Amino acid sequence: MMHITSLHSKMLRTSVLLCLFTAVIWCSAAPNPSEEWWRDSFIYQIYPLSFKDSNGDGVGDLNGITSKLEHIADIGASALWLSPIYVSPMVDFGYDITNFTDIDPVFGNLADFSKLVTKAKSLGLKVLLDFVPNHSSDKCSWFTKSIQKIKPYDEYYIWKDAKIVNGTRQPPNNWLSAFQGSAWEWNDQRKQYYYHAFAAGQPDLNYRNSQLNEEMKNALRFWLNRGVDGFRIDTIPNLIEDSRFLDEPKIPNTGLPDTDSGTLEHIYTYNQNETYDILKTWRAVLDSYNGTKKMFLTEAYTTLAYQMRYYEYGSNIPFNFMFMGELNNRSSAVQFKRTIDRYLDAIPAGQSANWVTGNHDQGRVASRFGLKRADQLSMMAAVLPGVGIIYNGDEIGMVNRPMSYKETLDPAGCNAGPSRYNTTSRDPQRTPFQWDSTTSAGFSTNTKTWLPINPNYKTLNLAAEKLASVSHYSIFKKLVTLKKLPVISKGTTQIILVGYNVFGVVRRQAGQSPVVLLINFNDVSTLADAASWMNVPDQMKVYVSSIGSNIQIGATVNTNRIILPAAASVILV
Ligand code: NOJ
Repeated sequence: MMHITSLHSKMLRTSVLLCLFTAVIWCSAAPNPSEEWWRDSFIYQIYPLSFKDSNGDGVGDLNGITSKLEHIADIGASALWLSPIYVSPMVDFGYDITNFTDIDPVFGNLADFSKLVTKAKSLGLKVLLDFVPNHSSDKCSWFTKSIQKIKPYDEYYIWKDAKIVNGTRQPPNNWLSAFQGSAWEWNDQRKQYYYHAFAAGQPDLNYRNSQLNEEMKNALRFWLNRGVDGFRIDTIPNLIEDSRFLDEPKIPNTGLPDTDSGTLEHIYTYNQNETYDILKTWRAVLDSYNGTKKMFLTEAYTTLAYQMRYYEYGSNIPFNFMFMGELNNRSSAVQFKRTIDRYLDAIPAGQSANWVTGNHDQGRVASRFGLKRADQLSMMAAVLPGVGIIYNGDEIGMVNRPMSYKETLDPAGCNAGPSRYNTTSRDPQRTPFQWDSTTSAGFSTNTKTWLPINPNYKTLNLAAEKLASVSHYSIFKKLVTLKKLPVISKGTTQIILVGYNVFGVVRRQAGQSPVVLLINFNDVSTLADAASWMNVPDQMKVYVSSIGSNIQIGATVNTNRIILPAAASVILV
């Protein structure tokens, strides 16, 4: 009897402790909006090779970025995220790293980095770095030592024996690289294959080795100690591979060549469960720092369910890429409504939504959606709740610069060959920023730049847009200001179609005038009765309208009869 009672009280104590423990975990995991400085702001992505060259070598650098930080502050963004600036042979333009804790000389050095951070902070900007944990460069000393089987590096990468078929050496399985062809590369010194999800110069790191993860955590600490406010985590779903190394199933009838990774269902190399546990270990590193809350943005092209899981394990912004695939310039207003509703409904309570309009891997917004719709995505990102993420140059409506195969540098393009490179190359959206109409668009004093300047820079540039009465730039600035209104950060959100082809968003907050976004998905002018369909005031003011729509900014409109020209968009307040 005594026994049972003491067992019961022990059990009771344990369950009380468990409840407390769970509550503590729950409390620490629950987001606290007041410390999340990124809430309802715009974050600005800089592609360092192409932002601003300070030393005339035709390549962008840190001092160049520092000299242009006022531009980001003027726009009103909360933070800048720098694509990789670490030591790199540039096989994948910085996403192949030989030293995770130093700056590539082409960009400058650690002292230049400190200057950048100091100036950014003085302008009220946070600094975010790209964390590239999935792979290193094959020139990284870890890899050289791994080839030689020097401990502990011998297990820092994914090594496998060859499969011998009819006496010949074959890769261990059918896994394919995102940059075409087998994901396995033979190393004649170690006499094994290594796995590379991307280029052969980017061997995948092995997260089943805890010492490797300690190295990566130290890399995070290194930069946190130098004042960074968080990281964008590169291609996180690739982190772990299934240890059975089974062939991945083929997707029938893709129309792609057998060498293209789009022909396989990546059930063993993507979205593996352990990925989330690793993220948690990195979150703990960030949370061990006091002061300004540190953030993670996670890059994962994946399903909504996998995307939402990243919140649970420590991502603040699991990138929402819906504008880069699921929705495109052929999508209807109804498809936009459904996809956005579904996304907003899935966000865990208290977490922040986000809207990525463009990045260095996707065609420019103005090219993907067309000139008339160049600002529509930013308008959605501004009016919808959550963080907007914009790629440098999209704020001035830069467009893709088509490249010949000869001009192509991107491994994703080069490896696809002359007949297909233009569907895979990312060079067209990576050309230098167009600051003004002087030599090399004011990007460099050098007439030869690492990627060619888009010849349209003479007319399409920031300086010209600052002078124009209405421009992509002036529209974008207004959108950032709008995003800061309480009705946007705290108001309710309704997505309402006006008829079949006009997409609308209404944000309302008691005591405030509502904010209304209307987008005409028709190729012809459309009459919209927003007053009836959306229950908004009879008269509202035009806050901003798309270029060429001829809807006068500042004009008062009768909301029961708004004429929206083809593809036009307007925000009313
Ligand atoms: C995603 C990056 O955005 C892309 O540019 C890069 O090629 C791959 N990850 C590999 O790091």
